[in-house]
Amino acid sequence: MSIALTLHLLGVIIWVGGMFFAHVILRGVLNEMLEPQQRLPLLLRIFDSFFPWVWASVVGILASGYWMLFTVYETETAFWLMFMSAVGTLMAAIFIFIYALPYHQLANALKNHDMPKAVASITMIRQLILTNLSLGLLITVLTLFGKYGLF
Ligand code: HEM
Repeated sequence: MSIALTLHLLGVIIWVGGMFFAHVILRGVLNEMLEPQQRLPLLLRIFDSFFPWVWASVVGILASGYWMLFTVYETETAFWLMFMSAVGTLMAAIFIFIYALPYHQLANALKNHDMPKAVASITMIRQLILTNLSLGLLITVLTLFGKYGLF
């Protein structure tokens, strides 16, 4: 259990922490300092480097989470645990959608110098990352409140 929980929380720290930095810090500074022609290729390069870590985190979180759910918790159906496993799985599906669609659309649009298409793709990525960041923070708060009996 301790190895699974450690893997689980390392995945959460890398993924949710990375989304927090990208959305709250990096995005603001880049918007201030760079035009879309410079900003979007830079963001694509940043996603190229961050997404492999997200893949590792998503696989680690799901594998450790379901292992703990089916071994340690067996039939336990506490709200916080059900909420975390359902919404955590939804977050993984949202990331797979980002990777499969707007991320590749952004790369193709920049290769074809189609700035309007690139701007549309980055807008969708930003909205979905904000959704996943909000859900990740909500899961963390509800899990800790629920597990330690604060509601
Ligand atoms: C990105 C989404 C997720 C976040 C942010 C998250 C967050 C957390 C946190 C903070 C804990 C530690 C609770 C504690 O021990 O104090 C935890 C434990 C756990 N998580 Fe997740 N989790 C996520 C996804 C999942 C998924 C998808 C599952 C199941 C499929 C899951 C199942 C579990 C289980 C079984 C535990 C052990 C509970 C315990 O500590 O006794 N989690 N998670």
